[in-house]
Amino acid sequence: MKYRYLGRSGLLVSRLCLGTMTFGNAQWGCDEEGASAIVRQFVDGGGNFIDTADGYSGGEAERILGVAIRDFDRDNLVIATKCWFPTGPAVTARGLSRKHIITACERSLKRLGVDHIDLYQFHGPDPYTPIEESLRAADDLVRAGKVRYIGCSNFYGWQIAKANVLAEAKGLASPISAQHLYNLIRRDIEREILPAAADAGVGMICWSPLAAGMLSGKYRNQGAPDAQSRMGIQAAVTMPRYWFEDALKLIDLVVEIAQRLGYTPSQVALSWLFGDHQVTAAIIGARNADQVKENLLAGDIDLSAEIREELTQALPLNHGYPFEWTDNNLRSTFKNAEFEPRHRVRLP
Ligand SMILES: NC(=O)c1ccc[n+]([C@@H]2O[C@H](COP(=O)([O-])OP(=O)(O)OC[C@H]3O[C@@H](n4cnc5c(N)ncnc54)[C@H](OP(=O)(O)O)[C@@H]3O)[C@@H](O)[C@H]2O)c1
Repeated sequence: MKYRYLGRSGLLVSRLCLGTMTFGNAQWGCDEEGASAIVRQFVDGGGNFIDTADGYSGGEAERILGVAIRDFDRDNLVIATKCWFPTGPAVTARGLSRKHIITACERSLKRLGVDHIDLYQFHGPDPYTPIEESLRAADDLVRAGKVRYIGCSNFYGWQIAKANVLAEAKGLASPISAQHLYNLIRRDIEREILPAAADAGVGMICWSPLAAGMLSGKYRNQGAPDAQSRMGIQAAVTMPRYWFEDALKLIDLVVEIAQRLGYTPSQVALSWLFGDHQVTAAIIGARNADQVKENLLAGDIDLSAEIREELTQALPLNHGYPFEWTDNNLRSTFKNAEFEPRHRVRLP
């Protein structure tokens, strides 16, 4: 297992993070015993980074994770959780208000059975609460010793930039990580989110790295996913997101490259993410320990630049404007400079 520093922080995490959205999910997940087997497989395989959220299985995922980690030295693990989704019927029990963040954190600590959370993440942006209020509440949790670092998830690029500039200006704890949807099929974050995160020194933690299981190649030559699979059960969301002609062609290439290299398609799809050093970790979600065992090997695989490029070009991303404008004008305008642009905003 290889390890990467999370953004600009000194926190070293395994580049595979264990996701727990399956824990306690009766339809496409696992029970307490299955979850403990998954955690054991992951930690024994060198993983130290585990992601959960108070919204997963109505809090059950945190409780079950708390049971599973009792077998291990808590100090050797990096436990991440999140708040934002409703935790009850009260109108205040959601979002990123000071009131909710502090209550949600206290409850997560109890469910997990730990005295601190290593990475406390805002699960999504709250359009009604000033970000300064949320940052101050998170900073208080850091100062109280209940949280070590803070991060965000599903933020727009400008929100990542604003949160970091504000936190720095006010002397508050700055978000060191962003958690976003990123995989070979859906590369939307390359437009505005990865550049914003790079500029702020924020590390990317990718969710759904296997596109709900599609990139394992298991649905190839099928007209539809198996009804009891994650893809099948969540079809209303997953099918329009991942199941289209160009994606199916890309998956054929992932399978072909996997055969060429002696890996599995899942291992190839996961390791493609690590070719970009701004990606700190990919969060592997699993139904059972066998899936974890297979996916864990990607923690050590580095694809060659040529193979990575072949995969990247198989389903190209149209970056659109203003990338198109900068591509046409920037290099010619600044052609007298000896080196590449100093600022970290990427060009397509
Ligand atoms: N911040 C956010 O908003 C957000 C959103 C979503 C997820 N997350 C985090 O990211 C984690 C992963 O997300 P995800 O579950 O959507 O990831 P994913 O990589 O898109 O899908 C994981 C699913 O793929 C299948 N799978 C996994 N390994 C496989 C293998 N080797 N072979 C065949 N099938 C395999 C399993 O489902 P089946 O066995 O049912 O096919 C598994 O549940 C979550 O647990 C959570 O921690 C965060």
